[in-house]
Amino acid sequence: NFFRSDTKPLKGKTILITAGPTIEKIDPVRYITNRSSGKMGFALAEEAAKMGANVLLITSVETLPIPNGVQCIKIRSANDMYEAVMKHYKQADIVIKSAAVADYTPALVFEQKMKKKDGELTLRLERTKDILKELGRKADKPFLVGFAAETENVDTYAQQKLIKKNADMIVANNVSQTGAGFAGDTNIVTIFKRDGSSVPLPLLSKNETAQHILKEICKTLEKDCR
Ligand code: CTP
Ligand code: CA
Repeated sequence: NFFRSDTKPLKGKTILITAGPTIEKIDPVRYITNRSSGKMGFALAEEAAKMGANVLLITSVETLPIPNGVQCIKIRSANDMYEAVMKHYKQADIVIKSAAVADYTPALVFEQKMKKKDGELTLRLERTKDILKELGRKADKPFLVGFAAETENVDTYAQQKLIKKNADMIVANNVSQTGAGFAGDTNIVTIFKRDGSSVPLPLLSKNETAQHILKEICKTLEKDCR
C-alpha cells in the first residue's frame, strides 16, 4: 500500500493549490461567481499536508476550515488569484489549479450601487488571464496540474487542455454526473497524463480522490527523476 509504505512521500516538497470559485465584482453589492465549493482543493491541501508537503492554499472560500499545517492566502477575483499565484509559484515544486477561475469579469466596476432603469441592462465582460496557461509558458515552470470541469466530451476536452496549457496532468470530471463535481463530498475523475496514459478513478470521497491524485503526481515525478 502506497500510503502505508511511505507515509510522507511529499516531504520536502512545496505545493501551491488554488481552490474554489473566484468572485468578480459588479458594484459594491453585486458580483458574478460560479458553483464551485472549493472542497476538492481543500481536500488536496489537507492530504498533501498529511503526506508531508509544505502547502500554500490560495482561495476565496471562507466557509471551509483551513486544514492543519496549511498556509492560506485569501483572494476574491481571478485577477487577485493571478497576482497571488505569480508571486508565489517560484517557491513551489508543484502547482495544482483546482480553482474554478472566472473566464470573464466585468469590464467596468461601478463604484456606487447601480440603480435600476427601465428596459434591459447589458453588462460588458472582458476575458481574465489564464493562470494555468501562463504558468505553462514559464521557463521555471513547476510540475503543473490542472482541472477540467466538463459537461460533455470529457476526454477530448481534457486532452486538449493538457496540450494547450502545457500542463503535466489534467484531472477531469463530468460535473453533470451524479456524485461528481461541485457541491458534494464525492467525485468521479479521470487523470490524464503527458505520456498519453489516463487513470480513471471510481466514485470516491474528495479526500480519497485527493490521495490518488497526489499519488499519481509522486509516481510521475519519480519517473522523471530516474
Ligand atoms: N484556469 C486558469 N485561469 C483561468 C481559467 C482557467 O488557471 N482564467 C485553469 C483552471 O484552474 C483549471 C484549468 O485552467 O485548472 C481548466 O479550467 P477550465 O475552466 O476547465 O478550462 P478553460 O481553459 O477555462 O476552458 P473552458 O472554460 O472554455 O472549458
Ligand atoms: Ca473556464
